[in-house]
Amino acid sequence: MFLNDADFRSDTVTRPTPGMLAAMHAAPVGDDVLGDDPTVKALESSAAERFGQEAGLFCPSGTMTNQIAINVHCRPGDEVICSPLAHIYNYEGGGVAFNSGVQVRTGGDAYGRLFPEDVHRLVQPNMDVHAAPTSLLVVENTANKGGGTSLGLPLLRDLHAAAKAHQLAYHLDGARVFNALVREGESMADYAFFDSISICLSKGLGAPVGSLLLGPKDFIAQAKRIRKRFGGGMRQAGYLAAAGLYALDHHVDRLAEDHEKAADIDACLESLPYVVERKPCHTNMVLFRIEAAGGAPALQQHLANLGIRIIAMDREWLRIVTHLDIQAAHIDQLKSALRSFAG
Ligand SMILES: Cc1ncc(COP(=O)(O)O)c(C=O)c1O
Repeated sequence: MFLNDADFRSDTVTRPTPGMLAAMHAAPVGDDVLGDDPTVKALESSAAERFGQEAGLFCPSGTMTNQIAINVHCRPGDEVICSPLAHIYNYEGGGVAFNSGVQVRTGGDAYGRLFPEDVHRLVQPNMDVHAAPTSLLVVENTANKGGGTSLGLPLLRDLHAAAKAHQLAYHLDGARVFNALVREGESMADYAFFDSISICLSKGLGAPVGSLLLGPKDFIAQAKRIRKRFGGGMRQAGYLAAAGLYALDHHVDRLAEDHEKAADIDACLESLPYVVERKPCHTNMVLFRIEAAGGAPALQQHLANLGIRIIAMDREWLRIVTHLDIQAAHIDQLKSALRSFAG
């Protein structure tokens, strides 16, 4: 059997499957900026319907869908509440400030979760002229830097109530929401209470490119203008949208396999003397801290010498991610390489 690279850096490294490529090849397309690509329209309406939202907007990346959402929900000078581990805060190039002139206030736990009491504490007093008005709560599910943490519907609902108690808009960074849904046995329709949702097709779902912003019709109409302003209008994007439709139809349920593989790796790490801390392994990620001469880069290099790629997040923490292109043989290869590290 052909073995791909043992590339555990991210679930974004996948190549389209033959079925996905065939769907892309067969897609009817048009100029989507002029509003006539039928496959993009089909993807936007299908994704919106699945998540109980009125409309959708196909964008090149999850960074763009998050940044557009923030831009539409907030005015310059506003404040956004999120986890200190949030992607919008750590990994979007300061876009909240650059694109929208907003600032961030953070709270929550070490796994990327926020709780209602955090929201109540972090919201700025409305009548105080010294304070930046808080206008948006952003949650990330699953929480990437938290270790692929799944927040679960009860918490998401409680956070919704907390947001609404302060008239905040409520945005979901759902780059990996499908992993959360599969883990919890939740359905996409359960997420209808969000004011806006960003989903990524190019992570666990295995599409080459693409994210969707979902929300009410008037919100999406404004988002479309901002997408153009940000340079995200795409022409014959139906070829990419076809990959997304294929992914939604064929690659959601199989995420359970990625979760099993991650749990297998996590169990192996538990037995290794140089691994001193692990974040709870909920989905397709394993984040762990090591104590070893040379630190995390030394383990990363040891694995690279054996043809295995993972990410060292800093001097101590590393990340392993399972995905569509990780086969059983890769897991065996990884586990034996992890065991052979002297620490
Ligand atoms: C939680 C989260 N949100 C947003 C993004 C941004 O997605 P993109 O890489 O498509 O810009 C990522 C990327 O990994 C992510 O992990």
